[in-house]
Amino acid sequence: MSYLKITQDEPAAATDGVWLTCIECGETFAPFEGIRYTCDDCGGLLEVRYADLPTFENFGDEGTAFHGGVWRYSAALPFNTGVTLPEGNTPLHEVPRLEDKIGVERLRVKHEGMNPTGSFKDRGMTVGVRVAQEVGVDRLACASTGNTSAALSAYGSRAGLQVLVLLPEGKVAAGKIAQASLHGARILEVDGNFDRCLDIVQNLADRGEAYLLNSLNPFRLEGQKTIGLEIMEQFDAEEGGFPDRIVLPVGNAGNTAALYKAFRELEASGAIDEDEIPKLTGVQAEGSAPMVEAIEEGWDHIERWDDVETKATAIRIGNPVNAPKALPGIRETDGTAVAVSDAEITDAQRTLAEEGIGVEPASAASIAGLRKLRDRGVVDEDERVVCLTTGHLLKDPDAAVEAGTEPEPVPADTDAVLEHLQS
Ligand code: F0G
Repeated sequence: MSYLKITQDEPAAATDGVWLTCIECGETFAPFEGIRYTCDDCGGLLEVRYADLPTFENFGDEGTAFHGGVWRYSAALPFNTGVTLPEGNTPLHEVPRLEDKIGVERLRVKHEGMNPTGSFKDRGMTVGVRVAQEVGVDRLACASTGNTSAALSAYGSRAGLQVLVLLPEGKVAAGKIAQASLHGARILEVDGNFDRCLDIVQNLADRGEAYLLNSLNPFRLEGQKTIGLEIMEQFDAEEGGFPDRIVLPVGNAGNTAALYKAFRELEASGAIDEDEIPKLTGVQAEGSAPMVEAIEEGWDHIERWDDVETKATAIRIGNPVNAPKALPGIRETDGTAVAVSDAEITDAQRTLAEEGIGVEPASAASIAGLRKLRDRGVVDEDERVVCLTTGHLLKDPDAAVEAGTEPEPVPADTDAVLEHLQS
């Protein structure tokens, strides 16, 4: 019996064409009867075997399976393709326990942390860096609370361009700095918050020192617009119809603006009716909530907060530069904005983790905000809601360790481990 030969007559032990074969002696076993890890007869390693071996035609599920991705939407973008890793096509998770707990008719989680560099920023960068190539620049730059810098560093490197990032010193999560660093960006740690970094990088861009790829750059938002397009198509394919509401964390309010643009375009083209546009609902951390303030006060502008603080460092922003696009987006769609505490964010992060979805703190704000709005009766029980989770758990390992269980040191000895487990 040759280990390398994967074909074999289907043995009596097979169940539905699946069985286990010992790679040493060829003995076969039923796949799910009893628990075994090695061969009963000789102790050799086991391999799973199939009566029907797959061909390419067996893969995917033509007709029903959905496949998104930023460049699927090139008809809505300035180019047909760009510098791609590739990005988009992120999962729209079902979260039945959380749905029950919060008490809405349907809750789905669009996990943008599943993009190539672990955040939605990749959608903006695939388009933004393509535009940078078009306009012919050598150096790209951004201010960042971390994720933008990680994405720009990856996409800029891939395009063979220099990348300069300005980060607020001591306020960027470890995973994000690691990414910018390994992708070879020049990293400047500024003695000031994100908003100051953005002021400076705007000045540098104005002086021709670099091409600005913050969300002030409208092409970035074109890429991020595809989050909205993907949600609409995916939700319609899997649930039928469109969500009533989309809840998202807000920093610079770029995503809020981008989603609103996606919906305005769909409505203008006749693809959806006005009353099918989801209510855009923004969530900020209590310690940095100028958008919430503007919505609550009914202002048509935001007032910059100079002192901001939250453990959700990604949205530790006091001057949301896209507010002029985003405030109308929230109002016109009949949405709202709400602030949540750091404790509520951590709690939501844990609850998502219980459903197997690992997100960084800023992302969990969407869930925390939905819960709060549902408790207040602002969100109805019959609503179908999509929460956007913007960044992956591994972006901020320190926050994850703080929110999670403590590792327990034990000696390297089985009896001692057993004793520890029983204690
Ligand atoms: N969530 C995460 C994980 C983010 O990194 C950001 C923004 C936001 C939400 C807010 O999105 O700005 O479109 O309202 N991060 C930027 C950065 C500021 O530099 O990475 P927004």
